[in-house]
Amino acid sequence: MTKTAKSMAVTPSRAYWNHRHALAEFRPRAEELQQAVDRVGDLSPCQWAQLFVMALEFKPGLILELGRGIGNSTCVFTEAANRLGSCSVISMDLGDSWEKITVPKIRKIVPPDWFQPLQALQANILTFDFETAFKNAGRVLLFWDAHGFDIAECVLGRILPAIEHLPHLVIMHDMTDARYCEPKYTVPYGENGLWKGVNAESARMRLGHISSAVAQAIAIVDFTSRNELNLYSADHDLHTEFGSGSSKKAELKDLLGDEFFSLNAHWFWFSLNDMARPCTFPRYDYQEIQTRLTMEEKIREALELDKLMSREQVTLRLRLKIATKVLLNRYPKHFLKGIIWDVVNSGPA
Ligand SMILES: C[S@@+](CC[C@H](N)C(=O)[O-])C[C@H]1O[C@@H](n2cnc3c(N)ncnc32)[C@H](O)[C@@H]1O
Repeated sequence: MTKTAKSMAVTPSRAYWNHRHALAEFRPRAEELQQAVDRVGDLSPCQWAQLFVMALEFKPGLILELGRGIGNSTCVFTEAANRLGSCSVISMDLGDSWEKITVPKIRKIVPPDWFQPLQALQANILTFDFETAFKNAGRVLLFWDAHGFDIAECVLGRILPAIEHLPHLVIMHDMTDARYCEPKYTVPYGENGLWKGVNAESARMRLGHISSAVAQAIAIVDFTSRNELNLYSADHDLHTEFGSGSSKKAELKDLLGDEFFSLNAHWFWFSLNDMARPCTFPRYDYQEIQTRLTMEEKIREALELDKLMSREQVTLRLRLKIATKVLLNRYPKHFLKGIIWDVVNSGPA
């Protein structure tokens, strides 16, 4: 591991301290936004604060948010981008909760031009054109908050190779440092079996001092181990820098309150800028993913059609219409093949 890691120049403790006044200023609006978003389980108030100061400290030109959900982190990064001035936010999610639920509520809190730095895309991370997004990027802050091995493979095998030459920082949510957490949360299996899932579930895994319920915890331990790369714990940094008797800690608590200032973080960070030698990346086969997603979509459509047929909602008129289209060869080849397969397998007429 490198001794003078560049990503260590930006730490949550330094960020808290250096931007404590900006954070105190943001606090009333942050509290209003948090109330409007109303999903504290996805990002706690102290994590709002920590992400906000990390963005101010790192000064990215581009913030890429993987997983917007209802939009806690989206609010944080958009506020930070507004304060930084020349920073934009690309936020990605499959869902539309941000536009449908959150935006109407927060329009009453922020001015219209607050949304300007933000591009809230409804897009699949697995197939997004990141190379174009990074074309004119300077410093990139990547917030990794979408789960699963496929996304991990995309981050490690597609996104990181595209930003390794740029100054960047990757913040990973949903990973706890068990050294700073009550053992009852990270030690006993309790009622749970082994962690075998992909998403945040009740069972957790324990990898050394990392405790997590999300697949990317495994992927990042594998990746950083192979590359002998530091994976920094925000909890460790905060507990070490603001240990008992720290005068800075007392001032921060006083200024920010217990909700906004906490030594507990539950996130990790890393950067390939620390690497002294070429990095090894997992293969990410874009074409293979695309084919799989198309197949999954077709299966979903077929299941929906099956449900529709079984509810006998297909009227005689609709059946005649389908027959006409088949006769006129208006369906794509794969669809017709499916029908032929069905007829062949339905036995003698
Ligand atoms: C834990 S939530 C994000 C929470 C959010 N960062 C916050 O602070 O409120 C994870 C999100 O990742 C999104 N997601 C999962 N897979 C995705 C994919 N392939 N492409 C885009 N978004 C995806 C999910 O729709 C979900 O909203």
